[in-house]
Amino acid sequence: MEEVYDFQEDDIGRVILESSEKVGSLANQSSVQINVEGTEFPVAVNLDRGKISRAFINLFSNAIRYAESRVDVLLKYDGSNVYIEFNDDGPGFKEEETERVFERFFVGRKGDTGLGLAITKAIVEKHGGKIKARNNISGASITVVLPRSAKPV
Ligand SMILES: Nc1ncnc2c1ncn2[C@@H]1O[C@H](COP(=O)(O)OP(=O)(O)OP(=O)(O)O)[C@@H](O)[C@H]1O
Ligand SMILES: [Mg+2]
Repeated sequence: MEEVYDFQEDDIGRVILESSEKVGSLANQSSVQINVEGTEFPVAVNLDRGKISRAFINLFSNAIRYAESRVDVLLKYDGSNVYIEFNDDGPGFKEEETERVFERFFVGRKGDTGLGLAITKAIVEKHGGKIKARNNISGASITVVLPRSAKPV
């Protein structure tokens, strides 16, 4: 079934903060601290708010499940794009996993149904964006790149 998208200019930082609030109690239950940086100034992206929220909540939920104690989300941008990095301090991906985690029904250790990242990727691509998984020093890192809107919010 084709999903209907309703695009509007919106401040991407606000959508990140709103999503982080929605996973707040999940984080509390897991004793995980969420830290969001880079959202001080409005940065416009042409987006479907409900869909992008769902994508971010999927990424937050994974990060919280694997995190030892913290999830750090960082918003960066240049003239063309916004870059949203989700970092956790968990075990990270297995090396051979990073290419496959976006496949439908791919489930690794402590996984669930294996759909979250496939859905997230589809949403990001509908926005003309990209998503990449890698490991950083302390755990898993997922970066979402979205085209920045020329219009102000
Ligand atoms: N932050 C992370 N750290 C380590 N492994 C991860 C992380 N996020 C995802 N993964 C791996 O990628 C797999 C796919 O993630 P995905 O979100 O698509 O599915 P899921 O979380 O297993 O189930 P759900 O459909 O409920 O989201 C996971 O099963 C897990 O092995
Ligand atoms: Mg998931």
